[in-house]
Amino acid sequence: MKKADLGLIGLAVMGENLVMNMESKGFTVAVYNRTTSKVDDFVNGRAKGKNIIGTHSIEELCANLERPRKVMLMVKAGAPVDSFIDQVIPFLEPGDIIIDGGNSHFPDTIRRCKYVEEKGFLYVGTGVSGGEEGALKGPSMMPGGSPAAWEAVKPIFQGICAKVESGDACCDWVGEGGAGHFVKMVHNGIEYGDMQLICEAYQLMRDYLGMSADEMHEVFAEWNKGELDSYLIEITRDILAYKDEDGAPIVDKILDTAGQKGTGKWTGIAALDEGVPLTLIGEAVFSRCLSAMKEERVAASKILNGPCGKFEGDEEAKKAFIEDIRCALFASKIVSYAQGYTLMRAAAKTYGWNLNYGGIALMWRGGCIIRSVFLGKIKDAFDAEPELANLLLNPYFKEAVEKSQAGWRRVCAAAITAGIPAPAFTTALNYYDGYRCEKLPANLLQAQRDYFGAHTYERLDSPRGQYFHTNWTGEGGSTSASTYTA
Ligand code: 6PG
Repeated sequence: MKKADLGLIGLAVMGENLVMNMESKGFTVAVYNRTTSKVDDFVNGRAKGKNIIGTHSIEELCANLERPRKVMLMVKAGAPVDSFIDQVIPFLEPGDIIIDGGNSHFPDTIRRCKYVEEKGFLYVGTGVSGGEEGALKGPSMMPGGSPAAWEAVKPIFQGICAKVESGDACCDWVGEGGAGHFVKMVHNGIEYGDMQLICEAYQLMRDYLGMSADEMHEVFAEWNKGELDSYLIEITRDILAYKDEDGAPIVDKILDTAGQKGTGKWTGIAALDEGVPLTLIGEAVFSRCLSAMKEERVAASKILNGPCGKFEGDEEAKKAFIEDIRCALFASKIVSYAQGYTLMRAAAKTYGWNLNYGGIALMWRGGCIIRSVFLGKIKDAFDAEPELANLLLNPYFKEAVEKSQAGWRRVCAAAITAGIPAPAFTTALNYYDGYRCEKLPANLLQAQRDYFGAHTYERLDSPRGQYFHTNWTGEGGSTSASTYTA
């Protein structure tokens, strides 16, 4: 048998489906799994009769690979990745490539890339999005790492990934070191934000408008035909229509506590590190945390008072309010992506990555969880102006927000008055109003800092970079603290 084009370690859901995908596109794949009975089950089951080589040791796996060898790890993020890298290295020759296709934290990928390169090999850390179905039929892929590896992995990655209508591949080289995993992390953060926005729209319809799952299903079906057309709106539509065995909507029976694996949290931490106001994704992560405090919330609901407002209006007014919710969702989504892209720009500067923002939008346009028509517009915006400072400044998005603004504000006001939490809708609006505010109250804040800690301030009537200190109480000295960032 011909040697394999790629060797894959880790036959869990994503690994297995990626192998099937690669094989269906004409590649031969060698596979290995730590529990080797999984290899036999796979080779004798789903992979039977296919160009898939089962192996029972890493040595055997590596011996079955065409050079340069490409060994792809689809194992749990964290220590297992480091462990497998060390197990694979003894069987590699210079120029061979280790690929990590898991949801690794980008600082780990930066470290591993350096480590593997120092040993004379190449490293790729790639985001793979789209879940089980994506892995099998065409995921979105975001590879980064050793640039010299790209030519070798490109035919396989671009062969198996999702394609948009134009035929363009939802996979391209992202950048050096941890760039691919960074972009995948931001994708996941945006995924958290998109999901939270949909959930807030849902809660307003359910609790404020008193709508049933079936009614909401109709609304999401309608929304999916327009500007909001996306995978997450589509699955929400289908979830709302899904009935339990007794015929009742299953969504109404699911416990309201959200889980999370940590990629949204990483995105929030990266934003705090970069000093980027990534408020919507932050709220999305914290909303999951708040939801997880179920017992405490149930107890608090009996103690803490506040409005539980219901919409009062006729059918026509209700329809208009649903349209307002759509506007709130759309405008907030624009803010979320604007914030996410701002984070990528800041990180690119910090880590020396030359990110192609239009290219990233194209990678997310198909195959992944956040895929949507909307990403096509983001691609257009960055293609037209690669250095665009903020998506909100692009003419299409500026106009879209302006058109949605009145409804968005009505929804935020109604939610606050009715006592219905809408943290993502409102934080997005606060960001929008803050970003377009020429004069924020930080002058007072600087005065406070200077008052209690002699932290100094700049003045409107003096050039930037000149720092002043006032002896506010007449008691302190004239010594001021130095300016630095911890
Ligand atoms: C993807 C997803 C995936 C992620 C899940 C679960 O792109 O296919 O982002 O990578 O693991 O969405 O994430 P949480 O458990 O944190 O919700």
